[in-house]
Amino acid sequence: MLIHAATQALPGPKGFFGLKNVRDMSQAGMLTFIHDSWQEYGDLFQVQVGPKKLVVVIHPEHVRHVALTHAENYDKLESYDPVRKYVIGDGLVTSTGELWKRQRRLMAPFYTPRGVQAFAETFLRDTRTMVERWERLAGSTVEIYDEMALVTASIVLRAIFSTESDADILEIKNCVETMIGYIGSRSTNPFSLPDWVPVKTNVEYWKAHDIVHSYINRMLAARQAMAEADYPDDLLSRLITAQDPETGERMPHDLLRDEALTNFFAGYETSARAMSHAWYALAQNPLVKGRLHDELDRELGDELPTLDDLKRLPYTLRVIKETLRLYPPAPMYARDVIDDDVIDGYRIEKGSTVLLFPYFTHRHPAFWDEPVRFEPDRHAPDAEKARHPQAYHPFAAGQRICLGNHFSLLETHIMLAILARRFDPQFLPQYEAQFSIASLLEIRNGLPMKLTKR
Ligand code: HEM
Repeated sequence: MLIHAATQALPGPKGFFGLKNVRDMSQAGMLTFIHDSWQEYGDLFQVQVGPKKLVVVIHPEHVRHVALTHAENYDKLESYDPVRKYVIGDGLVTSTGELWKRQRRLMAPFYTPRGVQAFAETFLRDTRTMVERWERLAGSTVEIYDEMALVTASIVLRAIFSTESDADILEIKNCVETMIGYIGSRSTNPFSLPDWVPVKTNVEYWKAHDIVHSYINRMLAARQAMAEADYPDDLLSRLITAQDPETGERMPHDLLRDEALTNFFAGYETSARAMSHAWYALAQNPLVKGRLHDELDRELGDELPTLDDLKRLPYTLRVIKETLRLYPPAPMYARDVIDDDVIDGYRIEKGSTVLLFPYFTHRHPAFWDEPVRFEPDRHAPDAEKARHPQAYHPFAAGQRICLGNHFSLLETHIMLAILARRFDPQFLPQYEAQFSIASLLEIRNGLPMKLTKR
């Protein structure tokens, strides 16, 4: 029989009802606050923020506990209510229980490494359009985040709806950004008025919400007016025709809408940030950039790469993976604690919220040599096999791992190969990035770069 040692209370910064922590966090910024607390209290600590207890999880074994071995005790409950209520309803990112299980089973086949190859044409086509745009803009300064978001929004909207109109793409992208921004502003503003009060932020939110919903409803109605044999080969068609293997049922209208919106919500800004951070890392690391250029120049002619060509570009993929290590677009993700638990001898209280932090796991000195050095060869096959499986979790871990991980790795592999073969964006003089967390990882002062042709 196992005898458990007495459990201890979690260490962590103290303060009057968590108010000091709220102040310190907002003054220092979340990245600095969590980093400094990690240095002071170790790999597992608790931060009281107002009425809420947050448990910060960094060590790979603790990630494993929460996301894999005890995952049934850590779910997406109230922490996901704002995004559930204001953006994606019951789509896969926020659903739980039987609904999540059924939907994940239905959608997983679209996103296998083989399944996502169906989208390669879209990745290639939209990146080629970007090459033409950058040819025109060469020599000028662009905001890299905006440039990358233009491509990834277009890719994911074409992948879902076969959208052809650039005006539609821009409108939906802007509206979804307004909707996401709205949850951010409600969560940081303790004086937010109820959402039905017609103040500017509420009016703008509802306008964006209605435009997005009516766009998706129009797309669904157009599909339903067609014979199935004429459906275009996109995600919406696959969602509409997917059948539960046990009951033979198809998804109801509202769920189709939520899943379509979820794919857009989850799949464009994350990939745009991954690409932007790759340009940042390359500009910071000329030796890595040199090796990337050597590989691309050696293996690719002036034609666009095919899927077969990508196999000869392993270093390009490692640059992407290393970017996701040092600058993960999703630097943290949350789980709500259902019942009291113990991790490594520490008490985890029911009702608290666990924040898993890939950003810091990826910089843990016990798992990564010289953690802040940008070194793509850490992702060579043997090195990947040798490391702790949860030392690297840019796409989360366990059964709720990102559904689109193969999609985005193929997408960014293709984008980087094509764009870095032709362009070498440069920092502006005296530029210094200020990274921060605003649910995603962002560079607060933006990433303006001079578009230089190679
Ligand atoms: C570099 C790009 C991406 C990153 C870093 C990323 C990261 C993540 C992370 C960390 C989660 C877990 C979120 C949580 O537990 O709260 C997640 C979930 C998810 N992602 Fe991604 N993602 C990326 C691209 C995509 C793309 C392109 C798609 C779709 C086309 C997508 C679809 C999803 C979905 C549907 C989920 C929910 C999965 C579930 O709970 O079963 N993601 N992603």
